[in-house]
Order: sequence, then C-alpha cells, then structure tokens
Amino acid sequence: MKDLKIFDTKQKLAGYFGDILLSRLSTNNKFTIALSGGSTPKAIFDVLVSQYKDKIDWNKIHLFWGDERCVGPDDAESNYKMTYDHLISKVPIPQTNIHRIKGENEIDAEAKAYEQHLKHTLPIVNGIPQFDMVLLGMGSDGHTASIFPHQINLWDSADLCVPAWHPESGQRRISFTGKTINNAKEIFFLITGKDKAEKLNEIINKKAGYKNYPASLVDSPVFLIDKDAGALL
Ligand code: 6PG
Repeated sequence: MKDLKIFDTKQKLAGYFGDILLSRLSTNNKFTIALSGGSTPKAIFDVLVSQYKDKIDWNKIHLFWGDERCVGPDDAESNYKMTYDHLISKVPIPQTNIHRIKGENEIDAEAKAYEQHLKHTLPIVNGIPQFDMVLLGMGSDGHTASIFPHQINLWDSADLCVPAWHPESGQRRISFTGKTINNAKEIFFLITGKDKAEKLNEIINKKAGYKNYPASLVDSPVFLIDKDAGALL
C-alpha cells in the first residue's frame, strides 16, 4: 500500500481526490481514467460537479470504466448510467471522451471489443495499455472491479478484460483484470461504508484471508477511505 488516508466524510474524501485530479490535469493534455462503479463514486462525482466543474478542463479527460454490468446504458444497474446521472450530464465533457463498455452487447464479444479499444486508444507500456489513473471500489466481500472472490483466478488472466458474474445475483459483468489495473500509472481505492471495515482491516493489516486478494494490488494503490470503512484500522 503506497498510502492510506482516512476522511471524516465522503465529501472530504471527494475534495481531496478532486485536488489530486486537478493537479494531474495541470501536467497532462490527455488524461485517461478508468472509473469504478457501485455507489461510492456518486459522492465523488457530485463534489467534482459542485466544486470542480469550472476548474477542470473536461476536454482533457477521457473516461473509461474498470467494470460494467451487462445491461443497457439506461438501466439503473449500469455504471455508465450512474456516471452519466452524477457527472457526464453535468459537465462539458466531449462525447468522444466517453469510452463506454457496451453492456448491452454480447458479453464475450464486448469484452474482446473493449480490450481492442484499450489497445488502440491508450499508450502501450510493458506491452499493455496504460491508464493514467484507475479508480477502484471494494465490496464488503473484498471484491474490486468485478473480480469477486469466487473468481479470484480471473485477476491473473492473460486478458485485459474478462466476462465475470456476481456470486449471489449471477449478474453478468465485464471487468478489467489485474494485468490492466496494475499497469496503470496510479491506482486509487476509494472505499466508503462500515460494511467494508472488516475486509479492509484484513487487507491493510494482512490478516488471515487477505491472501484472497491480489497482493500486487494491495501494495501499489493509494487508499482513500472514509472513517466508517476505516473503523477497525
Ligand atoms: C461495481 C463496482 C464494484 C464496486 C464495489 C463497491 O460495478 O459494483 O465496480 O467493484 O466498486 O462493489 O461498491 P460501493 O461503492 O457501492 O460500496
């Protein structure tokens, strides 16, 4: 773990992240970022809109997703829709800077198509497309992107994007693998909520069971967490 910061509120976490993003944009004309899904990003995006909308040059930012549910872009389950509702619809980001995973497409074909898109759109470093930044969340079971413990082997896939599914609902997903995520210039875990406290304690303090998580992932990211998620640290 490169760094761990605990914030009193999601909003303070979001403001800290917004300052980081602003600083990165000051030295980049094209900034590629892979977003996480779920609910945590909503607070981050709301702050980026309310406090950074006029400070950020949105022409510089290219949005990708580290995982997507295999649903249409208007579906309530869609990570794209969550991002559209909380960010894309509220800032002047060019449509050509939005690189959506088309969850409505056939899952295997779309995983391959997105992988090809990464190869054609991003710089290739170590033979792998490289993001400037990857944002990750973490579920209460410790999953990140859509690599769940029951499919932890996917983390080490030779592919950049893989079909996956949710262990309870069976919801089909497309997810980045460790190969894509670990090649990023920067990885940020943005984790909130008391339901994450136990797993985070396990991972950060390398307690029994943390080996279920990709060690390389545990060591490289910056963890930005709220005090609920950090309650046991
Ligand atoms: C997804 C995510 C997933 C998410 C975690 C945390 O598509 O659901 O990418 O990895 O980040 O499940 O979700 P919350 O922020 O809602 O707790």
